Amino acid sequence: MFVIFLFFSGFSALISACNKEEDSPEPDPEPMPSTEFVAADADFAGFRTWKVVVDLKNALSDDGRAHTDAARTVWIKQANAVLGSNSQYPIGTILVKEVQGGYGIVAMVKRGGTFNTSHNGWEWFNLDTAGKITSRNSSSVCNNCHAKVKNADYVFTR
Ligand code: HEC
Repeated sequence: MFVIFLFFSGFSALISACNKEEDSPEPDPEPMPSTEFVAADADFAGFRTWKVVVDLKNALSDDGRAHTDAARTVWIKQANAVLGSNSQYPIGTILVKEVQGGYGIVAMVKRGGTFNTSHNGWEWFNLDTAGKITSRNSSSVCNNCHAKVKNADYVFTR
């Protein structure tokens, strides 16, 4: 039994030695924590009192497709949120954008876990004017446009 144990421990040491040699010079990005944050209506309560990220009157990008050219405000719930060593906002981060003129309210929540992993775990929302969830998904429409700012973890304005 002991001999078998020695054999296997030697074998796994060999494997880890091999893996070491194959390590790329770049440090591995920190994996997403396995916890998951599933937002509910209450998590958006009072979003108009959160920290204002930006107040915009015109299109932000020169393609002019930034939802609309109407006046709009972006808030973040976690006023001090910063990109972590994995270049992502922490799980649970919430951003809300309200566009004037009846265009509606959208939100993005860092859900994490196994959700929308190919787009950094963001869940996309539509809210009603009271801040209640009217729809939620991992929509490719939202993913694709926000992917322009992939390096900023899909967030345009912060
Ligand atoms: C055609 C491009 C495009 C699409 C599609 C799009 N967005 Fe955006 N979004 C933007 C831009 C640009 C901003 C920056 C603020 C602005 O100019 O209005 C933004 C800002 C936001 C913000 C504020 C945080 C930030 O990134 O600055 C949220 C929340 C948001 N969008 C949610 C959504 C949701 C939900 C969807 C899908 C239903 C969506 N967006 C689809 C371009 C897009």
